[in-house]
Amino acid sequence: MKKVTIRTIAQKKSKGEKLVMMTAYDFTFARILDEAGADLLLVGDSLGNVIQGQSSTLPVTVDHIVYHTAAVSRGAQRAHVVADMPFLSYHISPEEALRAAGRMMAEGGAHSVKLEGGAEVAPTVARIVQAGIPVMGHVGLTPQSVHQLGGFVVQGKTDAAAAKLLADAKALEAAGAYAVVLEAVPAEVAAEVTEALSIPTIGIGAGVGCDGQVLVCYDLLGLNPDFKPRFVKRYVDGYGLIRGAAEAFAAEVREGSFPTEGHSFHQDPKVVTDPEDGKLAALYGG
Ligand code: KIV
Repeated sequence: MKKVTIRTIAQKKSKGEKLVMMTAYDFTFARILDEAGADLLLVGDSLGNVIQGQSSTLPVTVDHIVYHTAAVSRGAQRAHVVADMPFLSYHISPEEALRAAGRMMAEGGAHSVKLEGGAEVAPTVARIVQAGIPVMGHVGLTPQSVHQLGGFVVQGKTDAAAAKLLADAKALEAAGAYAVVLEAVPAEVAAEVTEALSIPTIGIGAGVGCDGQVLVCYDLLGLNPDFKPRFVKRYVDGYGLIRGAAEAFAAEVREGSFPTEGHSFHQDPKVVTDPEDGKLAALYGG
């Protein structure tokens, strides 16, 4: 199977083929999303929200991202794995940023890193790229700056803000970024930025004119019934499905209809999982 690299990502833009990115935080989801055809799997700092239950991404640390990236890397066969650089891991100095990015690659097995910000982070992007680590940029609504932005609000709405967004995206491109996420910006502005850049744009809440799209996998799977932003499409009622399955299990346990004979061992059971299936056996300690 041919792995997705930053070369194939660049080629997709020139061929007009859309890029598909989804977030993933663990081995099992990474395997499913990879098999479903994700070009890129982003170990987003959105794990602060969907895994840790935080109200922002600010508490996420480099250790958290490294841990989840290592799990995702084991599940991804084809997709390019992107590790998100968390709050304050790249703001203090380019050297500190490079050290954190290096951990994500060496310990996490990431293929590239992502960081938020425009022209102000360009020297940091350049430093990381010079060390041989591909960098994805992220402009528009940058959740790590939620307090500076005054909330999770659409960016680039005035002519001046749109011009700054374009200048920021171009600064990232000039610094060596291989792609840039455009989050929560008007569709026309995102299309204009996409046209002006030679590197691909990946949109979230940025309209159909981007070179690709990204969604948080828990959102597209409908795992949080209380989170209904306009830019999310739910492809399945994951919350209902999982809750229904858990309720069915609970009911069967309580009424004594699980386990059945077929789920039980009687004499000298030696094999709990199939030892030929290396991955599954490993999963269950085999
Ligand atoms: O952390 C994340 O999941 C992200 C995407 C929403 C782009 O940055």
